[in-house]
Amino acid sequence: MQVSIMFKFAVIGYGFIGRRHVNTLKSFDGVDCVAVCDIDPVRREEAKKAHSDIETYASADELFAKADIDSVIISANNNQHHDLVIKAARAGKHIICEKPVALSVRELDEMIEEVRQAGVTFTVHQQRRFDKDFQTAKACYDQHLVGDVYTIQSKLFGYNGNMHDWHVYKAEGGGMLYDWGVHLIDQALYLDKSRLVSVYADVRNVINKEVDDYFKILLSFEDGVTFEIELGTYFLSDRKNWFERHWFVGGNKGSMHADKFNPEGSIVRTAHLLENVAGEQDKSTASYGPTRSFGIPAPGLIKTEPLPEVHTEQRDYFVNYFKARRGEADFVVTIPQVRRVLAVMEAIRKSAATKRSIDFE
Ligand SMILES: NC(=O)c1ccc[n+]([C@@H]2O[C@H](COP(=O)([O-])OP(=O)(O)OC[C@H]3O[C@@H](n4cnc5c(N)ncnc54)[C@H](O)[C@@H]3O)[C@@H](O)[C@H]2O)c1
Repeated sequence: MQVSIMFKFAVIGYGFIGRRHVNTLKSFDGVDCVAVCDIDPVRREEAKKAHSDIETYASADELFAKADIDSVIISANNNQHHDLVIKAARAGKHIICEKPVALSVRELDEMIEEVRQAGVTFTVHQQRRFDKDFQTAKACYDQHLVGDVYTIQSKLFGYNGNMHDWHVYKAEGGGMLYDWGVHLIDQALYLDKSRLVSVYADVRNVINKEVDDYFKILLSFEDGVTFEIELGTYFLSDRKNWFERHWFVGGNKGSMHADKFNPEGSIVRTAHLLENVAGEQDKSTASYGPTRSFGIPAPGLIKTEPLPEVHTEQRDYFVNYFKARRGEADFVVTIPQVRRVLAVMEAIRKSAATKRSIDFE
């Protein structure tokens, strides 16, 4: 059965993620991607080669003047998002913008005002809210699987010291805080919805001249959680892994450890919670471990459980998007949410520059 096309898209920026967007859009019933815009003729040729039916444009102005589209995904370099979103809004197109939506809160506020005047929809591709590792940690927190949570660690380490292309230039919106920080902070704020009281951060250019390639961030939430985010691109290693992803969720009834994006790990509990009453155990003769507190647990004391099962994939971002466009759901990623993430990123840079904790909300 022929499904009629409800949404006609163009993708601006046919690079690493733009080409995926074209394929994803074309894989949905009732959706087509009819045009690609890229300033690079090589990329336009690649788009034509991959999709013989697609129109190509060398500029956003030409695209908006000529193409028969109602919606656009903006997946050009970070420093292009502001101007391209404003052009799209003025052309009356519904907008999905890649992350980071803008380079500052000020830029985003200008974009929001144009979108408001145009009356189009506007959301951001923060699809890592649907990643399995993140949803596993979120399930532990939401369902109190480790009791009252006091600490969460979200870590990503790269082992080849490599950043590439425009990502190493400040003027292009490069740096790891804009690239991955925006995802990891978005995940933290999407998981813990309580007031973010303060922000402390160390942000460094370990080997890069212009942009950050390492950060450690502490987000202190009103519900008692300290959320630690650490990312390094220069954790050189001769191990066979070329990156590592780690989660730790610590609560008063257990600990959750998970490694990898398709997470492997467990929830660990101890019978000590019930038995470790002062005076009831004599450990004065125990000889294991650096001290008795850090000694080897007695047999049977530690119990492990599997990680919670979560059913999620990044494509769910688009499933939600099209439902929202049809009026059947709200957009999972809202502009006030991404604005708050940008505000946190500004507090992070301020904290790193002053080496002080920043009061946030
Ligand atoms: N959500 C995610 O997981 C994810 C993953 C990768 C990239 N991204 C984001 O997508 C965007 C693109 O990243 P990438 O890795 O695909 O980069 P890329 O360099 O591979 O591709 C960017 C493309 O945009 C084109 N371009 C630049 N300025 C343009 C303009 N004014 N008009 C039209 N085309 C223009 C470039 O020629 C290039 O082909 C960035 O904002 C990045 O942060 C998001």
